[in-house]
Amino acid sequence: MADHRYDVIIIGSGAAGLTAALNLADTRKVVVLAKGALSEGSTAYAQGGIAAVLEPGDTFESHIEDTMVAGGGLNNRRTVEFVIEHAPQAIERLAALGVPFNPGDGPSGDRWHLTREGGHSHRRIVHVDDATGSAVQQALEKAAAAHPNITLVTDMAAIDLVTGRHAERYSGDGRVRGVYALHRPSGKVALFTARATILATGGAGRVYQFSTAPRGASGDGIAMAWRAGCRVSNMEFNQFHPTALYNLEVKNFLITEAMRGEGGQLKLPTNHRRFMPRFDSRAELAPRDVVARAIDHEIKRLGLDYVHLDISHKPAEFVMEHFPTIYAKLLTLGIDITKEPIPVVPAMHYTCGGVVIDLDGRTDLPGLYAAGEVTQSGLHGANRLASNSLLECFVFGEAAAKHILAHWDEFPDPGVIREWDESRVRDSDEDIVVQHNWREIRRFMWDYVGIVRTTKRLERALHRATLLQQEVDDYYGNYRITSDLIELRNLVVVATLIVRSALARHESRGLHYTLDYPEMLPEAVDTILVP
Ligand code: FAD
Ligand code: SIN
Repeated sequence: MADHRYDVIIIGSGAAGLTAALNLADTRKVVVLAKGALSEGSTAYAQGGIAAVLEPGDTFESHIEDTMVAGGGLNNRRTVEFVIEHAPQAIERLAALGVPFNPGDGPSGDRWHLTREGGHSHRRIVHVDDATGSAVQQALEKAAAAHPNITLVTDMAAIDLVTGRHAERYSGDGRVRGVYALHRPSGKVALFTARATILATGGAGRVYQFSTAPRGASGDGIAMAWRAGCRVSNMEFNQFHPTALYNLEVKNFLITEAMRGEGGQLKLPTNHRRFMPRFDSRAELAPRDVVARAIDHEIKRLGLDYVHLDISHKPAEFVMEHFPTIYAKLLTLGIDITKEPIPVVPAMHYTCGGVVIDLDGRTDLPGLYAAGEVTQSGLHGANRLASNSLLECFVFGEAAAKHILAHWDEFPDPGVIREWDESRVRDSDEDIVVQHNWREIRRFMWDYVGIVRTTKRLERALHRATLLQQEVDDYYGNYRITSDLIELRNLVVVATLIVRSALARHESRGLHYTLDYPEMLPEAVDTILVP
């Protein structure tokens, strides 16, 4: 097995990974691994946009305040300030890379059009129509592909981080030296080594049955970091986006929050009347946890399959101009959004918790950094404010790169690493076990660890997760590795971390709402799990 040796390994080719790569590559040889195609992460699916203080009259203080209010006060104020103060520069850099943000047409001559989303007290979201992520991903990929020091490797699924335990000369120092990864087309395991490794593997949306996140969002980075010895924090905070399309054929299609920002109203399909004003004075523009819980409440109260999101009262040209992608997509499903409402339901959308990092993107392990949705940086607290997450990817992708460059001479050579051992495994003749367990995890997480929780349901979920963990460990130890098995092994770890964190929180705060502890405690404390 050849050792693919680079200066820095980046696992993940979304906003966080590619930002880090571009910031390192002028002086370092970088490899970026993606488990599928480069644009299969969540980044390319982002619709609404990126939050930054750009409107005259808006202030950093106001964006910080909105972030902390949405986050239920659990945010780390230093992180919030760090990210928000770096936001305007991050937007400038993306524009310089060629991201065609919609131009402003405001009377004050704003450079970019700013839309509004829930929880923001100002117009603050730069966007490229309703398909911002795709434009960002394309610009980053183009720049990375053009850089001679960046090697982009697709279809390479990271299995586990390489530490001193895998070195020819055993070391217990915990330093990360690279990663073992499965080349999916050949089924062969490759070894990548480097002085520094950055995890940018995105979130774990797929641990739930219904999710807006793409198939690869199986929490691989969180599980790999946990197995290697990193602390993981705030995993109970799973953000359910209030408005995913309800359609029996098309799964996972998001209807952007910007539609509510531009006047879209949530209505009951039974009487066509708005219901959000009954729940919150901010109505449709309350933070996501509030809106998702209200929809869940109405769906359960009235035995509905969905509620309606209606923008048809706005002029048709306005709707088509602001939401061209959604308009075209729904027209193919027979829904003309300029004339009729859209059936919507909440769906798992964003993983607020993750691998603990500091302001330089450093994890607990020497040589290992992390950026983006895989992390718990302190930005989001108990509930992420809309459009703050792409921003986090740009700011921490750059911060990690800067720290690596500044401390390059302190990173030792990774040394000689042992080969991947396949001598005791055989080809599986029971793939059904993997498929069944994938489905089972996502189902019990949806039913028992959803928007409204109880201790009894969480205990049931923990019991199931523990049984599945034993089954998956047994399977992993005996059969040759596949991409589905890698993801299943990670999903079960992430499910367990979520349930354990939820059980540990004896209050309701932000996205964690439990009938057994409905009040919020006076002090906001992170849940930190130590491996
Ligand atoms: P991702 O973009 O998810 O990339 C993860 C990368 O890691 C991929 O390249 C993947 O292949 C790779 N990877 C994963 N596991 C492995 C492995 N084992 N081996 C190798 N590679 C691996 N946020 C906003 O701020 N604004 C929005 O408008 C917005 N809209 C959204 C709309 C949708 C539908 C969704 C799902 C999310 C949205 N978000 C939005 C959230 C935001 O898109 C994500 O938080 C962000 O893109 C995450 O970027 P990332 O770089 O951390 O990870
Ligand atoms: C959306 O467009 O509603 C998604 C925005 C986000 O997740 O931040």
